[in-house]
Amino acid sequence: MGHCNSVVSFFFFFISFLITMNHTQADKMVPAMFIFGDSLVDVGNNNHIKSLLKANFPHNGIDFTGHKATGRFTNGKNAADFIVEKLGLPILPPYLSLVSASNKSNSFFGGVNFASGGAGIMNYTKQFFDSLSLDEQIDYYSTVYGDLVEQLGAAGTQKLLSKSLFGIVIGSNDMLGYFGSSSSLRQKMTPQQLLDLMVSTLQGQLKRIFNLGARKFAFIGVGAIGCCPSQRNLNKTGECNEEANYWSHTFNERVKALLQRMKSENNDINYSLFDTYSMLLNFIQNPDAYGFTEVKAACCGLGNLRAEVACLPISKYCSIRSDHVFWDLYHPTEAAYRIFVDNVFDGSQPYAYPINVKQLAAI
Ligand SMILES: *[C@@H]1O[C@H](CO)[C@@H](O)[C@H](O)[C@H]1NC(C)=O
Ligand SMILES: *[C@@H]1O[C@H](CO)[C@@H](O)[C@H](O)[C@H]1NC(C)=O
Ligand SMILES: *[C@@H]1O[C@H](CO)[C@@H](O)[C@H](O)[C@H]1NC(C)=O
Ligand SMILES: *[C@@H]1O[C@H](CO)[C@@H](O)[C@H](O)[C@H]1NC(C)=O
Repeated sequence: MGHCNSVVSFFFFFISFLITMNHTQADKMVPAMFIFGDSLVDVGNNNHIKSLLKANFPHNGIDFTGHKATGRFTNGKNAADFIVEKLGLPILPPYLSLVSASNKSNSFFGGVNFASGGAGIMNYTKQFFDSLSLDEQIDYYSTVYGDLVEQLGAAGTQKLLSKSLFGIVIGSNDMLGYFGSSSSLRQKMTPQQLLDLMVSTLQGQLKRIFNLGARKFAFIGVGAIGCCPSQRNLNKTGECNEEANYWSHTFNERVKALLQRMKSENNDINYSLFDTYSMLLNFIQNPDAYGFTEVKAACCGLGNLRAEVACLPISKYCSIRSDHVFWDLYHPTEAAYRIFVDNVFDGSQPYAYPINVKQLAAI
């Protein structure tokens, strides 16, 4: 009897062990994620550089764990947090926090976040506020790649990275820099020339990431830039800047063609492209469906549309954040990020093209 019992309990132990194993594997859809981009996905890199563009003070983070300002440009979690949550990964640390003097012994096996508020494809976005440009972020990634090769060997690294996701959220600052009120770039080039330059530069940047092991690209397109409070504020009637919107949409179309081209040249690339532009316009045109009541004004700021002064400690902020699309003059609220990422992850065409991130992760 005793013997039988222990066989039975061993059996149950074994089954629950298998279930636990399975569970752990199912929870984590990819081994790692590496994020490149701008303030939409910055989780604190700018805290570590001498940039004027920071968010590590109130009222940012007012709805974050512990009501803490972390460097995220929003009231709570941002797109980077929600996407890794969906994938079953822990929140990715900002790269610069890991390499800071006091933090030497970190591993990059689970991925890391390089994004920096103000970053652009082009370097000119640095003229406005210092940031880590996309090129610099890729430089840092190549160091990480070197570390991985040292620890896992070349084959082990390629195995890890080919399963990992590479999230890229970039282009908004390039557009805002051009269409902004005091831009001198307009005298230098047409919007069409700007897009040509952005897309050809981006092509080189994505190739570099590919050459450093990336195979699964999740590219989040730019939003309807012309509808962010800063742009509406430039229009006497408070309407969207239609020109900036047109070129934002066109940029996304050009990125779509670029990714298709890259895939046709390297068949082992898979990608998901998200149409942030259309989703944002949906929020604005049909706010009820998404639980929003305020789609024009920022929640935190001062002046017209709370878009004349950024979200600073002296600024006012709305009491209900979840019914606003915009947290400050440029950035969505946590509530908006959550809906964006639900669709990035689980959505279908035309928003997530040709597949969503859940499908991309499963490859
Ligand atoms: C060190 O890295 C951890 C994440 O691994 C992070 O939470 C912590 O803030 C970092 N420390 C510093 C001083 O940046
Ligand atoms: C940005 O500047 C760096 C350093 O000067 C340079 O290596 C890089 O090619 C530049 N990138 C672009 C897109 O102009
Ligand atoms: C203001 O918005 C309206 C409606 O979109 C547009 O026709 C007009 O050109 C805009 N004005 C400026 C200065 O952007
Ligand atoms: C990923 O890419 C491979 C190679 O082109 C292709 O066979 C496969 O169908 C792609 N997966 C999905 C889900 O699109």
